[in-house]
Amino acid sequence: MSTTPGHATGAAAPTSSPFPADFLWGTATAAYQIEGAAAEGGRGPSIWDTLSRVPGAVVNGDTGDVACDHYHRWAEDVDHLARLGVGGYRLSISWSRVQPGGSGPLNPEGVEFYRNLLDALRERGITPYVTLYHWDLPQELEDAGGWANRDTAYAFAQYARAMATELGDRVEMWTTLNEPWCSAYLGYASGVHAPGRTEPAAALAAVHHLNLAHGLAVRAIREVLPAAKCSVTLNLHVLRPASGSAADADALRQIDGLANRVFLGPLLDGEYPADVLADTASVSDWSFVQDGDLEITRQPLDVLGVNYYSTTRVRRFTGEGEPVRADGHKTTTVSPWVAADDVEFLPLPGPHTAMGWNVEPAGLTELLLDLHRTYPDLPLAVTENGASFEDTVVEDPALGIARVHDLARVAYLRDHVAAVADAIAAGADVRGYFAWSLMDNFEWAYGYSKRFGMLHVDYPTGERTWKNSAYWYARLVRTGRIPG
Ligand code: NOJ
Repeated sequence: MSTTPGHATGAAAPTSSPFPADFLWGTATAAYQIEGAAAEGGRGPSIWDTLSRVPGAVVNGDTGDVACDHYHRWAEDVDHLARLGVGGYRLSISWSRVQPGGSGPLNPEGVEFYRNLLDALRERGITPYVTLYHWDLPQELEDAGGWANRDTAYAFAQYARAMATELGDRVEMWTTLNEPWCSAYLGYASGVHAPGRTEPAAALAAVHHLNLAHGLAVRAIREVLPAAKCSVTLNLHVLRPASGSAADADALRQIDGLANRVFLGPLLDGEYPADVLADTASVSDWSFVQDGDLEITRQPLDVLGVNYYSTTRVRRFTGEGEPVRADGHKTTTVSPWVAADDVEFLPLPGPHTAMGWNVEPAGLTELLLDLHRTYPDLPLAVTENGASFEDTVVEDPALGIARVHDLARVAYLRDHVAAVADAIAAGADVRGYFAWSLMDNFEWAYGYSKRFGMLHVDYPTGERTWKNSAYWYARLVRTGRIPG
C-alpha cells in the first residue's frame, strides 16, 4: 500500500474509493491573503497595498499588512499541512517580495523565504503547486500602466524566468496566472479589485496582456527547465439561461465569450473568438493583439486549473430601468462585464454561502465534463473550491480545546468532492483537488469579514484552530473515501 501522504491509495485502498491512485489532495492559499509582513524582508509595495489604503475600497479598511502572519508562522503552517495529511499545497509567490520593483534586481531575502518554504514542504512529502501571479502586481508596474500596458507581460516573463532559475525543481507545477478574469475585469472595469480602475478598454487590453504574459512565462520557464510542468488557473463561469428564449441563449453566448472563451480561445486554441471581438467592438478594436501573439499565448499545458464556487444565471434585458445584477460582484455599481449592459445577472435558488453565492455542486461536474469533452487530452485539477460561512469558536470543556463546528462548510466540501468523483466516474481526467482555503485569510474587497478557511485564524493573536472541516478533510485525504 502506498504511504505517500495525501494520495488516495488506489488499488490497495478500499475498493469504494472513487478517486485514482495518484489523485492529489491539497489546500490552497495566496501570498497577499496570508503572508502579512508587507514592509518586511525587502518586499516592495503591490497594487493591493495601495488599494487597501483607499478609503472604502476594503470592508472595515482592512489591509494585508499582517494578514495571517504566515511570513513568520510558515513553519507552523507547514506542520498543519502535514497534520492534515495533504499531498499537495497550492501557494503563490508575491512578485514584489522577490522582485520589489517588478523588474530589475531580485530581493535575495524574499527568494530565500520561498526556498525555505518549498524545502520544508518537500521534506514533508507535500507537492508544491506554485502560482506566479495571484493578483499582487508590483506597484511600479501599475504606475507604468499595469496590465493595460504590454510591457507588463514581458516583465512577467522575466520574473517567471528568474523564479524558474532560483527555485528550479523545488516546484512541481508552475501556474502562471490565477483567475485572469478577476485581474482584468474586477481590476480594470468594475474597479472592485486592485488597481481599482474603471476603464473598459483597459480591461480588454489587460485580458490580452495577461494571456500573452501566460504564454511568454511558460516559454521562459521551459527554457530554464525543459521538463517543467506548467498550468494556468481559470475561474470559468458555469452559466444558466433564465429561459429557453433565443434572446437569453444569446445573452449566455455573450457572457460565455467574455468570461470563458476569451481565455480558453487564446490559451488553448490560439485564437480569439470572433463573436467576442464583435460584441466588444464599441469599446476596443483589439489592435493590442499583435502578429504572432496567438502562437505565444497557446503553449502546451500539463494541467488546466479550475476554480469553482457557484453558477451564474443570465437574461437579456428588455425592460425599463436598471437591469438586475445579482451576480456576486455587486459591491460596485459599475459592471465588470464590458459592453454587456443589456445582460442581467439573476439570483439563483439557495442555499447560499456568506458571500451570497448559490451552492450548486452539479455545476462542477458539468464544468469538468465539458472541459474534458472539448479538450480530451488536457488533464484537469480543481485548484480552488470552498465556502465562506459565519463561524463561531466555542470552548469544548471535555477536550479543553476550542472548536469550530462549521457543518455547512463540511457539507459544501463533501458535496463538491462528490461532484468531482461524479465527473471522474463519467470519464473526466481530474488529477487533483485543492480546498480553498487552508486557513481564514484576507478576502480581497471583503477584508477579514469573510472566512473560507478549514483552520480558523484569530487575527489579533494569529492563533490557528482546526474547524470540523479540517478534521473532515484529513479523514478524506487519509482514506480516499468521502466521509459522510
Ligand atoms: C478566488 C481567488 O483565487 C481567491 O483568492 C479567493 O479568496 C477565493 N476565490 C474566494 O473568493
